[in-house]
Amino acid sequence: MTAFIRDQWYVAAYAHEVGRTPLGRTLLGEPVLLYRTEDGRPVALADRCVHRRFPLSEKPSRLDGDRVVCGYHGFTYGPDGRCVSVPGQRRIPRTARLTGYPVVEQDAFVWVWIGDRDPGDTLPPRAPWLDSPDHTVVSGMEPLDADYGLLVDNLLDLSHETYLHGGYIGTPEVAETPITTEVDEKSRVVRVSRHMDDAACPPFYAESTGITGRITRHQDIEYHAPCLYLLHSRVAPVGTDERAFHVEVVYGITPSTEHTTYDFWAVARDFALDDQKVTDFLRESNHTVVMQDVVALNALQKALDTEPPGYQELSINIDTGGLAARRILARMAAEPA
Ligand code: FES
Ligand SMILES: [Fe+2]
Repeated sequence: MTAFIRDQWYVAAYAHEVGRTPLGRTLLGEPVLLYRTEDGRPVALADRCVHRRFPLSEKPSRLDGDRVVCGYHGFTYGPDGRCVSVPGQRRIPRTARLTGYPVVEQDAFVWVWIGDRDPGDTLPPRAPWLDSPDHTVVSGMEPLDADYGLLVDNLLDLSHETYLHGGYIGTPEVAETPITTEVDEKSRVVRVSRHMDDAACPPFYAESTGITGRITRHQDIEYHAPCLYLLHSRVAPVGTDERAFHVEVVYGITPSTEHTTYDFWAVARDFALDDQKVTDFLRESNHTVVMQDVVALNALQKALDTEPPGYQELSINIDTGGLAARRILARMAAEPA
């Protein structure tokens, strides 16, 4: 499995998912409770009552103002995690406190810092298109029964679009066109670019943009290890570059357990902003594409689980970005806490 990298920001939820109903997510193996205070501030606390470990995101646990009341015997906690009331006695044990996690709401995501180190001034990487009036966004989240490293591999090598996503976003030119890869070791960003000068327009772009002929198609990937993947996608009819359409594809990659991952996906476009038909089409189409990946990665994980340890892979040019990402992830995991 790919080692967890703690002391990092991870997408825990979309901002709209965090409200006045307790929400439970498991992030890097840690159960986390998310909710909003009455004035709208997101809160992230350990999702296990200190008394008998009942999940505070599980009914009948509930919010009482800014506090959360355990549904089992009523231990009550403030948004700082401190226990403020226990049943049957006035004295509150000193150790009755939930771990609190640093939280940032940014670009339509609620990010949680998992780790023991203080994040200080460190902020999560940006995906400003998700919260911009110049873009229209469709998004969702799919749980994956696979190691998050398999999703990183998948997203960094888009040649699979031709095979796994043919008829949606794949055309022969994607697999045929070589990539260039750049690695910024210091900021831990891997960039993979593929520029197609004259390519077929896949249905995903033909139906959403109305382009009928062939296109120039640019795929510029920026992977901010370990948690955020951006694909800057640009399509234009061949020979008319000024009429380019831009799509920003964003993935929040959040390890949940050793074998499961939250796959937060979003597609932001800068055209047909108010066209509901385009919005519905892109939501449906991208969801189908995400599910094709989910089914494939779940099957891949199952296959890998039956391999004897030390199995061999064979890598080629298309894997350059994925291999660079693996190297960065391994290095980050090995860094002292
Ligand atoms: S388990 Fe929460 S109050 Fe007992
Ligand atoms: Fe895919």
